[in-house]
Amino acid sequence: MKFFIDTANLAQIKEAQELGVLDGVTTNPSLMAKEGITGKDNILKHYVDICNIVDGDVSAEVISTDFESIIKEGEELAELHEQIVVKVPMIKDGIKAIKYFSDKGIRTNCTLVFSPGQALLAAKAGAAYVSPFIGRLDDISTDGLNLIAEIRHIYDNYAFETEILAASVRHTMHVIDCAKIGADVMTGPLSSIEGLLKHPLTDSGLAKFLEDYKKGN
Ligand code: G3P
Repeated sequence: MKFFIDTANLAQIKEAQELGVLDGVTTNPSLMAKEGITGKDNILKHYVDICNIVDGDVSAEVISTDFESIIKEGEELAELHEQIVVKVPMIKDGIKAIKYFSDKGIRTNCTLVFSPGQALLAAKAGAAYVSPFIGRLDDISTDGLNLIAEIRHIYDNYAFETEILAASVRHTMHVIDCAKIGADVMTGPLSSIEGLLKHPLTDSGLAKFLEDYKKGN
């Protein structure tokens, strides 16, 4: 399972990279705004800064919603760095654009996916990644993890190569449950990765080992 971090915060990206288990980064316009990154030039520079920190794919999202503009914007993003994956929304022109990019060898991440049918379309169009938002489904009393299971089943039926990128991961149990179901990738906050470290028996066991070592020395 690949671990991506879902943030545009450079300090957190560095911290996750230094942990040695980071496979990539996802961003979106809201995450860029949260870091105060505004204006086209600053946003493009920030994507390059992220690529220079992490070894792996970096999703950069288009803000256009019509085919021609998505293509223009996506091609510009893809030219920034070889690690860039163009993130395209699950809309009709988005699907057309994903097919266009796929034919040109430009990798895409189809975002804002909330149903198995949307995920099937994204795979048919040739998306490298599909991003089902599990946390946002949980927010409205719908089982986000069940969506991951449904997509896994469909993709396995036809050996689709599109990777299931569980997005809107909010906490550590989401990560574990996605791993059990067989999501190819999860993207979440740094806390969802660091939470995997924690167990009280590890802490108390280590304290006892160190205490016993001191007694014998
Ligand atoms: O990758 C998509 C993600 O950023 C959405 O997360 O927590 O805003 O639902 P959230």
